[in-house]
Amino acid sequence: MPVTCVIGLQWGDEAKGKLVDLLTEQNDIVVRYQGGATAGHTVVRDGQTYKLSLVPSGIFRPEVQCVIATGVVLNPASFLGEIDGLMQRGVAVGKNLMISDRAHVIFPWHFEEDRLLDQQCAGGEAIGTTMRGIGPCYRDKVGRSLAIRLGDMYRPDFHSRVEQIVRVKNELFGSFGGGGMKLDAQEVFNQYDAYAQRLAPYVADTTAYLLDAAERGKRMLFEGAQGSLLDIDHGTFPFVTSSNSSGVGVSAGSGVPGRYITKVIGIVKAYTTRVGGGPFPTEQDNQIGKHVRKRGNEYGTVTRRPRRCGWFDAVAARYTARLGGVDVLAVMLLDVLSELRELRVCTAYELDGRRITDFPSHVDDLRRVVPVYETLPGWGKEISGVGRLDDLPANARKYLDRISELLRRPVEIVSVGPDRRQTIFA
Ligand code: GDP
Ligand code: IMO
Ligand code: MG
Repeated sequence: MPVTCVIGLQWGDEAKGKLVDLLTEQNDIVVRYQGGATAGHTVVRDGQTYKLSLVPSGIFRPEVQCVIATGVVLNPASFLGEIDGLMQRGVAVGKNLMISDRAHVIFPWHFEEDRLLDQQCAGGEAIGTTMRGIGPCYRDKVGRSLAIRLGDMYRPDFHSRVEQIVRVKNELFGSFGGGGMKLDAQEVFNQYDAYAQRLAPYVADTTAYLLDAAERGKRMLFEGAQGSLLDIDHGTFPFVTSSNSSGVGVSAGSGVPGRYITKVIGIVKAYTTRVGGGPFPTEQDNQIGKHVRKRGNEYGTVTRRPRRCGWFDAVAARYTARLGGVDVLAVMLLDVLSELRELRVCTAYELDGRRITDFPSHVDDLRRVVPVYETLPGWGKEISGVGRLDDLPANARKYLDRISELLRRPVEIVSVGPDRRQTIFA
């Protein structure tokens, strides 16, 4: 039975939400396995727009089991707000959603640490995190001694754990010249104990559930959050998120061994965007970038920050397609390029006078590369109503063919608008 992964190959926001929602029809289970509530996945159904942060994009089909697996970090307030918002809009949320008791929980101290510590990074540039406590929560997970998992909130020592951690964190904040906050352990406990009661119906051993499902041949879909270039190990470190957001994170985050995965869909925009700091070789900080931002509505789903926009970078996307073991490509937001007379695709980089096609491992090198572009003609007409590949203008097909050739994978899905119907299956 098919086990499919949808992995963003750029810096996130490749329209994973739309694609996963479409593919849920063919699946029994949809799984989020890494990241936190920073990820904003947009789903448009019946003219209504939903913005999901942590809830898997399978939630709109009640027969689909949605799973938030172990590798995710959970912000209880934001999660409960998200499901309340969905229920208010008539979306069924109950037994169809489960969260791992092994998932780590984001506490108020994590927000404060995000604020205090993101101020400077490599070369004095900030990472530009979403300030949602994601990185600090993962740091405590790896550090172990100051971490609390969802299952721990139902144990008798939860209160004393909070007291102990608050003591340490207050000392840490005090060392920031008095600029940090002072936490009250009892207040934090009361707040999180109340969350624990509300979360209880959703908490489960998702690893056992998913392993059973894999062994019984259930159809599963793994929904990646963020993009591969934000991967903590393989992305543009340190300007990354704190989890394995490339395909390599599926097994670690869900507990399902890689041998069950039968198909990996690499999802890209027809151009490139990035939110936050860090190098971006094909960035167009000019009229082209402005045009793409306006036409593509390129503003953060959660934070509303303007996204940086640029040309399609085939060096970066080929690297991440290989890294994720991608079988086929989904090219999204192709319609956004329709008004441009000429399009550029980056096919190589020049670094210190040398031409390279491998993605540099150090951000300092990535900062210095000069993109080598190939120019392709635009198609000069709207395509958002096109339903078949053959009906796309010849130049749009040429553009897709070139992306496919450069990434060495077939294009299986093309998206020409936010709605489910604006999708072409090749
Ligand atoms: P995700 O984080 O990967 O799920 O992507 P986001 O939801 O953050 O950003 C994608 C945005 O593009 C959303 O506003 C979608 O509604 C929109 N979108 C998805 N597919 C298309 C498309 O083919 N064309 C256009 N114009 N917009 C699209
Ligand atoms: P989706 O899933 C785009 C970026 C932030 C910042 C860096 C680290 O919608 O594609 P963090 O708060 O995770 O410590 O921030 O990662 N970032 C995203 N960029 N889309 C996302 O999610 C992102 N999630 C985090 O802007 O540069
Ligand atoms: Mg997003």
